[in-house]
Amino acid sequence: MLLDKLRLRNFRNYTALDIELFPGKNILLGNNGQGKTNIIEAVYLCGTGKSYRTSRDMELVRWGESTFYTASRFIRKNGDLLVEVAFSPERGKRIRLNGVHQDTAIDYIGAANVVIFGPDDLRIIKGGPVERRKFLDSEISAVNERYRKDLADYRRILIQRNTYLKDARHKVDSIHVKAALDVWDEQLVSVGVRIMVRRAKVIQEFSALAQNAWRDISSLGLLKLIYRPSFDVERPFLSDEQADEQGMTKKWSALFHDELVKLRQDELMRGVTLVGPHRDDMVFTLDGTDMRAFSSQGQQRAAVLALRLAELDFIRSEMGEDAILLLDDVSSELDPEKRAHLWKYIDRGIQTVITTTDEKIVDELSEPGKIFLVQAGSVQEAN
Ligand SMILES: Nc1ncnc2c1ncn2[C@@H]1O[C@H](COP(=O)(O)OP(=O)(O)OP(=O)(O)O)[C@@H](O)[C@H]1O
Ligand SMILES: [Mg+2]
Repeated sequence: MLLDKLRLRNFRNYTALDIELFPGKNILLGNNGQGKTNIIEAVYLCGTGKSYRTSRDMELVRWGESTFYTASRFIRKNGDLLVEVAFSPERGKRIRLNGVHQDTAIDYIGAANVVIFGPDDLRIIKGGPVERRKFLDSEISAVNERYRKDLADYRRILIQRNTYLKDARHKVDSIHVKAALDVWDEQLVSVGVRIMVRRAKVIQEFSALAQNAWRDISSLGLLKLIYRPSFDVERPFLSDEQADEQGMTKKWSALFHDELVKLRQDELMRGVTLVGPHRDDMVFTLDGTDMRAFSSQGQQRAAVLALRLAELDFIRSEMGEDAILLLDDVSSELDPEKRAHLWKYIDRGIQTVITTTDEKIVDELSEPGKIFLVQAGSVQEAN
């Protein structure tokens, strides 16, 4: 997949920008605060329908204006795709694919695949479980429509079940409450376990891919990703043998169910659902120790890079084409040796957008592709 053209109108510090991207490397060079990351953010927005820096779309509108518009043309193996994202205060964010308005994110996610590596990424390791669930959900959602639907269903069931638990708080012994909760439990378990099984399988795949990338970026030790569900499933991650999905679904459903029975009084007292995939986590281990607690910042950064490269491999195998790689501020994120490995990796022909303040980065690249000079919201091609 390639991003061919990008158009921005009143987006962040750009009044009007039209650029054509190179199929290989695109370098955005400029001092701090000039608008390099804003371009990366715009590409990400077109790929995923949302910013990774803010959930408030209004912040993306150029100060003093009220609306923004972005358009990007992707060239995919099954045809060209024009993605338009627009925002106005009255109508909120609107997305069109090849001119057709999209009603929900469920239909939209996965239309174009982008992978980003940037300064905020450390939160995947250092942050709370919610960051890792967000990561997993967006990875799986981008390639699996069924998962997107399951997630939406699960969220709905969870909200309704929690509301019911709150309402039923003072009727703990009522037979009606018991019967109603039995029904909610059934639904929660059936959708919840589908999500858990998918997560377990994807984490297993990511673990193997990330370990390969980890070795390639010349890091020592064994990197592993381990699934930590909210209740004990005996074997917290799948072994390397072919996973028996049906067997696992049956077993985990029974365990999930038992857990809900055990926790019912507690749940009724507190008015929330205490167990399920909304409380899942994933652990990064290096030679068996938890990286969150014991690894250096540099090691954590390298692990996130390995994870991003694993993401590229994962998308290629699921979608049959490469994602677009966005590298924000690599010079400050990675040492020269790790960068050299990264350049080798993307020389396989992955379209990349690289932001940097450091001209020397250009000299590190075998084929620098296109260089754009970014200054105060205007962009000029330098070569
Ligand atoms: N909604 C907005 N309207 C106008 N300008 C904005 C808006 N949001 C951010 N900016 C400006 O955009 C600039 C930041 O751009 P960006 O984050 O792309 O910088 P950068 O070139 O990546 O810098 P660095 O090298 O420090 O990462 C800031 O100067 C900020 O004031
Ligand atoms: Mg930046």
